[in-house]
Amino acid sequence: MAACLLALGSNQGDRAQNLLAAIERLNTHPAIQFRRISSFHLTSPVGGPAGQDAYFNAAALIETDLYPAELLHALLKIEQELGRVRSECWGPRTIDLDLLLYDAAILESSEITVPHPRLHERRFALAPATEIAADFVHPKLRQTVGELLAALPPPAADEPNLRVFTSPTDMQATILDLRRQGRRVGLVPTMGALHEGHVSLVRHARELADTVAATIFVNPTQFGPNEDFQKYPRTLDSDLRALAAAGCNLVFIPLATDIYPPGFSTYVEPPAVAQPLEGVCRPGHFRGVATIVLKLFQLLPAHVACFGQKDYQQLQVIKRMVADLAVPIEVVACPTVREADGLAMSSRNRYLSSAEREQALALSRALAQADALVSSGEQNAATIVGAMRLMLQQARIVQIDYVALADPDSLAERTTVDRPTIALIAARVGTTRLIDNRLLSENE
Ligand code: PAF
Repeated sequence: MAACLLALGSNQGDRAQNLLAAIERLNTHPAIQFRRISSFHLTSPVGGPAGQDAYFNAAALIETDLYPAELLHALLKIEQELGRVRSECWGPRTIDLDLLLYDAAILESSEITVPHPRLHERRFALAPATEIAADFVHPKLRQTVGELLAALPPPAADEPNLRVFTSPTDMQATILDLRRQGRRVGLVPTMGALHEGHVSLVRHARELADTVAATIFVNPTQFGPNEDFQKYPRTLDSDLRALAAAGCNLVFIPLATDIYPPGFSTYVEPPAVAQPLEGVCRPGHFRGVATIVLKLFQLLPAHVACFGQKDYQQLQVIKRMVADLAVPIEVVACPTVREADGLAMSSRNRYLSSAEREQALALSRALAQADALVSSGEQNAATIVGAMRLMLQQARIVQIDYVALADPDSLAERTTVDRPTIALIAARVGTTRLIDNRLLSENE
């Protein structure tokens, strides 16, 4: 079997998804043993027409019995299957698969040249290749891939600085390495479909850390059987653009089978604060959340993790879990980001029709009403909850899961608002379930 180093690149369509599709095809090719994939590096295009999008570049280490020309044909076939159209030279490409090194072979023919003739001058290929095959020797230049990279000038200061990881072990090793270098790492776990709320979490993490890592994983175990796991919006390319623009440095996009491999059977029993409210409406939800969050904390051992207050009960569950299980991470709560008219930002808002979006405003208005009542001296929780429910009903929101006033730490229900209190709502607008909350002004 020959060990081969491949370069993968995409700067058209859903770029990271294109790389994932190519990896999948390499992985299942009958004549290829897939060994390792690097992280995906966001890089400016080199050469070609002006105005091209940035690339995601990666390197893969494989073993194969195919001859070099056969391997090249297999790579071309994968490119074609994934929709690559060869038009202009150096033009944008959905997927580009290059053979960089084929064992110690040196071949120069009209059909194939290995080692790749420009490998030694391409940072965008050498940087990912060094992650997975630093010691692979370039048979012509007699230098390793790592040495070739070290000989290049450093990247330009304005080069994008984002790397995307699929491998849990590589992600973990990278964070541990950063910690050893004395860097402070911030973490923003997400399920993707990012909006300004997520972006604000990344910005917050940037202020608290030198390196910011985000995760994008639609976690199946926190969805109930009749919930929206299948249709949950998946917008990887625009998510990665938003993360890069917000100054995120590392993104983890694991496969479900890497997070929950066959035989996975250990779950976190969530704390008592998980029981009321969402715990009643979405049985099992917080078991899934606590399990994935703890696993992400293991795989991305950051110093600090930022979560939005929009998912208030989730935040309390995570804080309690971290304290109870002595997880060495600081959990930071970040304010809910709202649209100009008060609607709390949520990935699920995109399900709303324009009429439903109008109706949905009743949630933040009902919370504002509760705040106004408390500020004016009302202490009777039943009266306040009644006024909030009325506002929802007036907006023709009939499926109300709960309207509650509760203790901000334990989420135990309040009957009298004579101490700090949080108001929480969960309701269905059309078929979309929305939640929102507000800490009520203290009435001295
Ligand atoms: O809040 C979310 O997006 C998710 O519940 C989280 C924390 C990323 C776990 O999947």
